[in-house]
Amino acid sequence: MATDLISGLRVTGRTAPAWVTLDAQLGRVWQNLHQALGRESHWPAFDQRVRTHLQALRDELAPLYGNRADFEAFLVRLLQTAFDAWRDRAPDLKALDAQREHDPDWFQSQRMLGGVCYVDLFAGNFRGIEAQIPYFQELGLTYLHLMPPFLCPEPHSDGGYAVSSYRATKPSLGSIDELRHLSEKLREAGISLVLDFVFNHTSDEHDWAVGARANDPAYQDYFYLFPDRTQPDAYERTVREIFPDEHPGAFSQLDDGRWVWTTFHSYQWDLNYSNPEVFRAMAGEMLFIANLGVEFLRMDAVAFIWKRLGTSCENLPEAHHLLRAYNALARIAAPALLFKSEAIVHPDDVVAYISPAECQISYNPLQMALLWNTLATRQVDMLQKALAERHHIAPGTAWVNYVRSHDDIGWTFADEDALQLGINGFDHRQFLNRFYVNRFPGSFARGVPFQDNPATGDCRISGTAASLCGLEQGDAHAVARMLLLYGVALSSGGIPLIYLGDEVGTLDDHGYVNDPGKAGDSRWVHRPARDEQRYADRRDPSTDAGRLHAGLRHLIALRRHLPALAGGHLVPFYAKNPSVLGYLRDGAQGGAGNVLVLGNFSEHPQTIAAEVFSAMPARMVDLIGQSAFEARSPVTLAPYQMVWLVPRGM
Ligand code: GLC
Ligand code: GLC
Repeated sequence: MATDLISGLRVTGRTAPAWVTLDAQLGRVWQNLHQALGRESHWPAFDQRVRTHLQALRDELAPLYGNRADFEAFLVRLLQTAFDAWRDRAPDLKALDAQREHDPDWFQSQRMLGGVCYVDLFAGNFRGIEAQIPYFQELGLTYLHLMPPFLCPEPHSDGGYAVSSYRATKPSLGSIDELRHLSEKLREAGISLVLDFVFNHTSDEHDWAVGARANDPAYQDYFYLFPDRTQPDAYERTVREIFPDEHPGAFSQLDDGRWVWTTFHSYQWDLNYSNPEVFRAMAGEMLFIANLGVEFLRMDAVAFIWKRLGTSCENLPEAHHLLRAYNALARIAAPALLFKSEAIVHPDDVVAYISPAECQISYNPLQMALLWNTLATRQVDMLQKALAERHHIAPGTAWVNYVRSHDDIGWTFADEDALQLGINGFDHRQFLNRFYVNRFPGSFARGVPFQDNPATGDCRISGTAASLCGLEQGDAHAVARMLLLYGVALSSGGIPLIYLGDEVGTLDDHGYVNDPGKAGDSRWVHRPARDEQRYADRRDPSTDAGRLHAGLRHLIALRRHLPALAGGHLVPFYAKNPSVLGYLRDGAQGGAGNVLVLGNFSEHPQTIAAEVFSAMPARMVDLIGQSAFEARSPVTLAPYQMVWLVPRGM
C-alpha cells in the first residue's frame, strides 16, 4: 500500500495509475470507480482506457461543472454510465475498436465514399435498406448516413430531428433490433453506418420534456424553461433566428404560459447542458447509439449546444468542452466511434470543431457553398482562395465534401474573404439567392427560397443538385455541371458524400406542399421518394440519369486507384483563367504521385496559356477523358470539362 502525499488516499500501489499520486481529484475518482467496478470482468479493459482518458474528460468538464460540490461524484456516476455501455458492447464491435485503434487513419483512404438517404424515402424501411446493399456496393459506398430513424412525433418531426427516444425507432421503419441487424449487414459489406446524435434538443414528446411540462422536479432543469418573457427577451437581443418561418426568435410558449428555448422548431426543445445530469443522461444515449454499430456519429447542430446571456449563443468555448468530453467518453467506452461535426457557420467557427480530440471529420459547408457560387458567377476566385487558405485542417482529421445535403444551401462564406476580392458579402448573397430561385435573367437554376427573412435580408436555398444545375429546364450543360461539382468533391480530399438520388439526377418534387407534416418547410422539395424510373434509367446511356450515373461511377472508379487523392493535402494551381479552377493533389503525406485537377466552370471553352504548365511534365494524360495532354502549347477545356492529369506512363 502506498499513501498519496497530496490527498492522503490509501491506494493499492500495484494497480493504481501513476497519476493517482499526482492529481488528488483524479485519484479519488479512480479510487471510487475501482471500488465500485473493480470486480467486474469487463473492468480491466475499461480501466486501461480510463487511465488514458480520465484526465482529458475531467479537464473538459471542470470548466463547466467543476465548481459544483458534487463534481467528483458526478464524474464517478458518469463513468459508471460509460462502464454499463462498455459491458453491453458486442464482441464484434470491441474487435472493431481494436482494429480502428490500430489504424486511426483508416478513413483517409481514397476508397472512402459516403452516401446519405432517408430510410423511408429511399427504401421503405430497414429491410429495404438492407436490400439496397448491392446497389451501395455497385456505387462504391463505404459510409452510409441514414437520416434520424428514431422515434419522433407525427406529423411534425423535422425529418426525424425531433427525437422522442434515442432507444426506440420509428415503428414504420422497423425495430431497434432490425436497425442493429442492418448495421451488421452494412459492416459485413464494408460500409460504415453513420447516424445522427441529435443532442442539442429533444422533441417535446420525449419523456424528459413530458416530465418538465408536468412540473416534475427531476426534469425541470433538463430544458430552458422561463415563467415569462424577461429572460427570453434578454437572450433574444443577441441570438439569431434559425427557422423564422415557424416561429420568430428562439423561444416558444407553452399552454401554461411558460416559455421554452427552441432554437429550431417549437417542438424541438433545447437541452440545458448547464445541468450536468443532462450531459450524463445524453452520454448514456450516445453510447447506446454507438453500440448499435454506428461508426460515425453526426453531431447535429454543434454550434448551439451552450448558451450564455449577452452572446450569440453559438460556437461558445463551452460547446467545444462538451464535444471533447463526449469524445473522451467515446474513446473510453466505444473507441471505434468517431464524430462528424455539423456546423454550418462562419468558416473560422467551422474549423474550430475539427481536431482528433473533438470531431475527427466535418462537413465542408464552405466548399459546398462556393461550388454553387462558382457555377453562378463562372468566377473561380472565391473557391480558389478558400482552397488556398481554408482547406488545410489538422492531421488525423478529414473534410466531408458534399454538393447537396438534406438541408438548404446557406451562403456561409466569410465576408472578409469576399471583401479582399472586392465582393460585398451581403449584396453577393442577394445575387446568389436570386440566381438560384430563378429570379435572375438567364439563370439555369430552379431552386426554392428557404426561410426568406425580409427583416434581415437572410435567405437560403432549397433544391436538388439536378434542379439547381439546370436539368429541370433541360439545359444542355446540366449533367456536365453536376459531374463537375461532384468531381471536385471526389478529388479535393477527405470523404466525398453523395446525397443519394443525385447520382441519377433526381429533380425537385413540389408535392410536399400537400403533406401536412412537410408543407411550410421548403427543404422537402429536395427530399423526394426514390425515383424508380431514374434508377432504372441509370443503365441507359441515352438518358440523363444514365449519363450522370456512368460519369460519376467513372470518377469513383478512377479515384479508388489514385493514392494521390487520399488524405486532404492540396496545393492550389492557378490556371490564370478566371473560370478555371485548379489544384494539385499529392496524397495524405504528399509524394504519392501528383494529380493535377482542372475544371472549367463556364459554358464556354476556356484556354489556359502554356506558361502555366511550365513546372509540369510536358506529356500528361487526362484520366477522365483518356486523352493525351500536351502541356507545351495552350490548352483548351470544353464547357464544364474537368480533367485529372497525371504524367504519361503512370
Ligand atoms: C441540423 C439538421 C437539420 C435540422 C436541424 C435541427 O441542422 O441538419 O435538418 O433541421 O439540425 O435538428
Ligand atoms: C441547420 C439548418 C440550417 C441552418 C443551420 C444553422 O443546418 O438546417 O438551415 O442554417 O442549421 O447552423
